This record gives sequence, structure tokens and C-alpha cells, in this order.
Amino acid sequence: MTLFNSFPWAAMLTVSATRVNPGTTELLQLTVFSACCKCSYTICFGVNISPCGHRFASAGRNVRYKNVVRFIGACTRSPNLCIVTGVMTAETGTYRWMAPEKDFEREFHMTGGVGRTSYARNSSLQKKASDEARHITLETLQQLYKETRPKSLGIADLGCSSGPNTLSTIRDMIKAVESAHRQEITSHPLPEFSFLLNDLPGNDFNSIFKSLPDFHTELKRDTNINGDCPSVFIAAYPGSFYGRLFPERTIHFIYSSYSLHWLSKIPPAIYDDQGKSINKGCVNICSSSPEAVSKAYYSQFKEDFSIFLRHRSEELVASGRMVLIILGREGPDHVDRGNSFFWELLARSIADLVAQGETEEEKLDSYEMHFYAPSGAEIEGEVKKEGSFELERLEMLQVDKEKSITYGKAVAKTVRAVQESMLAQHFGEEILDKLFDTYGRMIEEELAKEDIRTITFVLVLKRKI
Ligand SMILES: C[S@@+](CC[C@H](N)C(=O)[O-])C[C@H]1O[C@@H](n2cnc3c(N)ncnc32)[C@H](O)[C@@H]1O
Repeated sequence: MTLFNSFPWAAMLTVSATRVNPGTTELLQLTVFSACCKCSYTICFGVNISPCGHRFASAGRNVRYKNVVRFIGACTRSPNLCIVTGVMTAETGTYRWMAPEKDFEREFHMTGGVGRTSYARNSSLQKKASDEARHITLETLQQLYKETRPKSLGIADLGCSSGPNTLSTIRDMIKAVESAHRQEITSHPLPEFSFLLNDLPGNDFNSIFKSLPDFHTELKRDTNINGDCPSVFIAAYPGSFYGRLFPERTIHFIYSSYSLHWLSKIPPAIYDDQGKSINKGCVNICSSSPEAVSKAYYSQFKEDFSIFLRHRSEELVASGRMVLIILGREGPDHVDRGNSFFWELLARSIADLVAQGETEEEKLDSYEMHFYAPSGAEIEGEVKKEGSFELERLEMLQVDKEKSITYGKAVAKTVRAVQESMLAQHFGEEILDKLFDTYGRMIEEELAKEDIRTITFVLVLKRKI
């Protein structure tokens, strides 16, 4: 393509182009193979370019190499022929280079299967904590059932993951509805249950499906009252809960445990003009983070949480309820000896490996986690601002730790099952055993000095009519 040849740095670009027509706008889809003029490093990435004159429909991904100019888009129509290497962000109005966006929807998942490091075998801490909130979950569901009395009850678990936790919750929910039904609504048959299991597409849904025959057998045994067994239908709905998941007004109850503190993306504002993180040496908000980092994460949380609420309000029936269990923090300070401290220790463990020459400092500096632990006031403020829900309850739990010297190891295994997919891609699998040995040891050393208080919020939200 002659267009590129007029730019000296791009002399080595080769381009393959296909025309696609998604709906109204015709797009020219380019796959760009680009080589660095100094080191000949070759990169390849796909972009969508709008040929309409001024709009650039898409961006290159995650390419940050010395001496390589990042290709974001190009206008292929005269007189605006140009190559775009930076963008103006809508958020700040300032010129900044396109942040290296990770595709969490595709890449983030808990460790699947039932092996040593799987989420299935390393999620007992989440189970213990959601068990402590179980009475709130079940009371809310019973209340909703008594108010709405549907023939078919639609219940969604958002961020269900793989492993036993989701089916154990489903079992408790069926029993709770059955009990409410027997107390008050005996003249009607039991409702049918439709459970909609949501998680990101990389989730190991198959391992849940494989345990369904045993689940149904046990359920029949436990819930067979006078020969009346509930009909239970279970289906998977892969996709991000930051988008629409279900048809309008079809869901009665939404449950989500330990999932909503995962943001849709790393906030773009933590990258400088060169596309480098300003949060060096940290993997999330930590004690040495510049103030702009916590501001950026908070702003991303606000955007994501309000989108989440809006979509759920479209999917829930009137008076439908949500119970959301989410990691949070005690007060306004972003850095405390709570959840943020666990990420500080993870960064210190990676720094330990850097010091031993096991990985590079640049890798630590460029690793960020899409996590945010909101305060109660931040949650409340966002619910009010978005406006679709009444906040019926907001409870802060501090889940008891097992008084055991292996607690640090248990946390390390849990965090590994959650973060392994991202860490392995960034640092390589070979560092993981050593990293999590160090991490577990550091947690135990810190706990021996002073407690680390992990805060969990339980929210009950009622959709306004
Ligand atoms: C720590 S696990 C919690 C699993 C389960 N709810 C439990 O309590 O054990 C968090 C889950 O949230 C999922 N998740 C994170 N972001 C998500 C998103 N945007 N949409 C759907 N699921 C998401 C993750 O893939 C993961 O399976």
C-alpha cells in the first residue's frame, strides 16, 4: 500500500486488507505486520479502520516495544491520508497515547479443571465468606418469591466460576424457596427454577456441567416432598456482566459473589504519554502509588458499576432483587491493611523475584490488576446516582480467619487460582511456584506482626418499579 511508504518509519510495514460490512458503516479491516526499524522485531495486529474521513473505529493491541511506533489507525481517504499513533481521550480531553488495553473478556479466567491449582480446589475461602452472608441471600430470595410468586423463577449467578461453590448456592436457594412455598403458598404447585450461570467465556463451564448429573440426583433425594420434586433447569450464559446478558425483564433474582471487584479494564489514565504505567513497582493501588492511580481506579469503578446496574435493571422484573457480595475497604483511604495490602504483598513477592534475577523489573512495572475494592460510601453513592435500585441493605463483613499457621498458604493458593491466567501470560508459567511460595510466606510473616483485615460488603438491591 503506497500510503504507508510515504512514512519513513513505516517503510517496513506490509498490509493485508479485507473489506467487511458490519451493518451501516463499511470498515476496512487491516492486518498490519510491522517491523521495528532498529531491532527488526516483528509484530502483527488487526485493526478496523473507518474510511469515512475522520473516525477511527479501533485500536492496535498491547504493543509497547522500544523503537516501535504504535499503530492505532489510519485514514485511507484523500485528502485526510494519515496514520494515527496517538489519541485524544474522551475522559480527560488531553492528548495521550493509546493505553495498552488487555482483553480481559478473553484472557481472564480462574484456573479450570480439578487439578492442584484449580479454582475448584482452592475456593474454600470464598465459600466460607459467602456462607457467612448466606442468611441474607436466602432471606432476600424468600421475600422476593413471596412478593412475586412466579410460576417460573429466573435466578442468575454472575461470575459463577467453576468448582463447587455455584452449585452449592443453587441447592440452598432451591431449598429456601421450597420452604417459603410450603409456609405460604401451598395451594399452588412449586415453581420451576431456571438458573442462569454467567461468567467470562474462558471460564471452565464444562466442569460445572460434568457435575450436573450427581447434582440432580442429590437434589431429587433431598427435595422430594410427597413426590413433588422441583423442576430445575441450568444453563450457561458466557459474557461480561458489564454488558447485557439476558433478555429484558426475565430475571427475578441476581446473585454475584466475589466477582464485582473485577473491573472491565485497567483504567486508561494510569498510563503516561508513552503508554507506560505510572504505577511502577505496584500491581494495584499500593502505598507508593501516585494519587492519580487511586483516582483512576475509582473513576473506572464508578463507570463500570453504573453500567452494571443499568444493564441489570433492564434484565430484572419489577421488584426483582440482587444480592452482591464484593470485596471492599473500611474507610476512604485507598491504602490500608485490608484487601489492598494483599496486592502490595504480591508486588513485593514479584520484586523479590526481580532481585533474584528470575524476572525483569520492567515486567513488574507493567503488570496491573483490574481490581478495585470500593468503600461503603462509594457503593452507596453510585447506587443513588444510577437510580434504578433501592439499596435495601449494605452490610460489612469481616470474615474470621482460621487460626492456623497455614492461613498464608491458603490465601496464596486462592490468589493463584484467581490470578494464574494473567500472571502466566505476563511473566511466564515458570515463575509461579516460586512466586506463590514467597507470597504465602510473606503473608504469614505479616500476620505474625499484625492482622490483615479483609472487608466484604453484602448489598441487597431492589429494582425500582
Ligand atoms: C473469585 S471468582 C468467584 C466465583 C464464585 N462466585 C465464588 O464465589 O466462588 C470471580 C469470578 O468472576 C468472574 N468475572 C470477573 N469479571 C467478570 C465479568 N466482567 N463478567 C463475568 N464474570 C466475570 C471471573 O471470571 C471469576 O470466575
